[in-house]
Amino acid sequence: MDFSISEEQKMIQEAAREFAQNELLPGVIERDETQKFPAEQVKRMGELGFMGMMVDPKYGGSGLDTVSYTLVMEELSKIDASSSVVVSVNNSLVCWGLETYGTEEQKIKYLKPLATGEIIGAFCLSEPEAGSDATSQKTTAIDKGDHYILNGTKNWITNGNSASVYLVIAQTDKDKGHKGINALIVEKGVPGFEIGPKENKLGIRGSDTHSLNFNDVKVPKENRIGEDGFGFKFAMKTLAGGRIGIASQALGIAAGAYELAKKYAKERKAFGTEIANHQAIAFKLADMHTQIEATRLLVYKAARDKDIGANYDLSGAIAKLHASKTAMDTTIEAVQIHGGNGFVKDYHVERLMRDAKITQIYEGTSEIQKIVISRSILRN
Ligand code: CAA
Ligand code: FAD
Repeated sequence: MDFSISEEQKMIQEAAREFAQNELLPGVIERDETQKFPAEQVKRMGELGFMGMMVDPKYGGSGLDTVSYTLVMEELSKIDASSSVVVSVNNSLVCWGLETYGTEEQKIKYLKPLATGEIIGAFCLSEPEAGSDATSQKTTAIDKGDHYILNGTKNWITNGNSASVYLVIAQTDKDKGHKGINALIVEKGVPGFEIGPKENKLGIRGSDTHSLNFNDVKVPKENRIGEDGFGFKFAMKTLAGGRIGIASQALGIAAGAYELAKKYAKERKAFGTEIANHQAIAFKLADMHTQIEATRLLVYKAARDKDIGANYDLSGAIAKLHASKTAMDTTIEAVQIHGGNGFVKDYHVERLMRDAKITQIYEGTSEIQKIVISRSILRN
C-alpha cells in the first residue's frame, strides 16, 4: 500500500501550516479566553479555498480530495481547534450534504456562497432530548402543502450565531419514525427563528455554540433536501464523512501537543540534563509518537475509502474513535512533560488538552462510535 502524499497534497499541507502559524497562532490564547469567534480567520480560510475544499469548482469549491482535506484539518488543528471546527462543519456537514443531495437550485443559491466562504453554515441535529439517540426528534416540520411549519429547539449548534444557512433535521410524520424525518434549509433571520445565548465551554471556546429556537418558522418546500422522509438518512450519511473531519481535527490536536512537548523536553533541564534524557519522558514521547502515527494511518485510510468510492462508515468511525483517544492521551502527557508550565496558558498545551475532550463527544460520542463499529463488524 502506498501511504505517501502527492506533491500537490504536500503544497496544500504547507499552505495550511503557514496559515496556521502566521494567522491562527497570533491571538489564539486571547480568542480562547474571551470566547471570540475567529471571524477574520474564517474569512481568510475562505480566500485560501479551505471552506469548500471538496466541492466542485463550478459551485465555488476547490475540487480537492478528502485526503487533502484531512491534511488541512490536521495543520489547522495543531494550532486552533476552534477555527478548524468551523472548517469541518462547513465542509463535511453542510457543503457535502448540499452538493450530494441538494437540487441544482439549492446548490446555486446556498452551496456556492458556502463553498467560497462568503457565508458559513450549521448542521442542526441535536436536541435537548435527542443527542446520541438522534432518531428521537422532537422538532416538528408539519407539511402544509407548499411549505413546512417548523417548531422546536436544537442545541449545541456549532456556528450557531455566525452561520447564515442552517440544515435543520425535523420530524414531519411521527408515525413513520425515522422514515418520517426531513432535512430543511433554513436561513438566518426568518421570522420565528431565534438564536439562544452562547455556551460557556471547557474547550473550543472560540467556536460559537448556541441553542436555536424555531417558533412557527415557515420553510418553503423547495428547501427540503432529498425526498420526503430522507432527513435521517441524510444526517447519518453526512455524519459518516463528518467523522473523518473530526478524526483529522483530533489528529492535529495530538500532533500539535506532541510537537510542543518534544521541543520542550529537548530544552528544559532537570538533574543536570535535558528532561528528554530521562527515560520516563523519552518513553512518553515514544508512546505519543506511536499513537499519532497509528492514528494518521487510520485517518488516511478513511479519507482514501471516501475518495475511491468505498464504504467509509466503518473506517470513519474507527478513525474518530482512535483519533479522539489519541488526542486526549497525548495532550494530557504533553501537559505533564511541561510540568508547571503546562498548567499555564502561555505554553498552549493546556488549551489543546481542553480542546481534545470535545472530539470524544461531538459527531457521535466514543460510545456511539463503538455502536457503529460493533454493528458493522457483527453484520458480516
Ligand atoms: N448511512 C445510511 N443510513 C444509515 C446510516 C449510515 N451511516 N446509519 C444508520 N442509517 C440508517 C439505518 O439503516 C436505519 O434505516 P433503515 O431502518 O431504513 O435501515 C436508520 O438510519 C436508523 O438507524 P438505526 O436503527 O441504526 O438507528 P439507532 O436509533 O439505533 O441509532 C446511531 C443509530 C448510529 C446511534 C445514530 O443515532 C447516531 O449516529 N447517533 C449519534 C448522533 C450524532 O452523531 N450526532 C452528531 C450531531 S452533529 C455534531 O455533533 C457536529 C459537531 O459537533 C461539530
Ligand atoms: P447523551 O446522548 O445524553 O449521552 C450521555 C452519555 O451517555 C454519553 O457518554 C454517551 O456516549 C452515553 N450514551 C448514550 N447512549 C448510549 C448508548 N446507547 N450506549 C452507550 N452509551 C450511551 N450537534 C449538532 O447537531 N450540531 C452541532 O453543530 C453540534 N456541535 C456541538 C458542539 C459542542 C461544543 C458540543 C458539546 C456538542 C455539539 N453537538 C452538535 C451535539 C453533540 O453531537 C452531542 O452532544 C452528542 O451527540 C452527545 O449527545 P448528548 O450531549 O445529548 O449526550
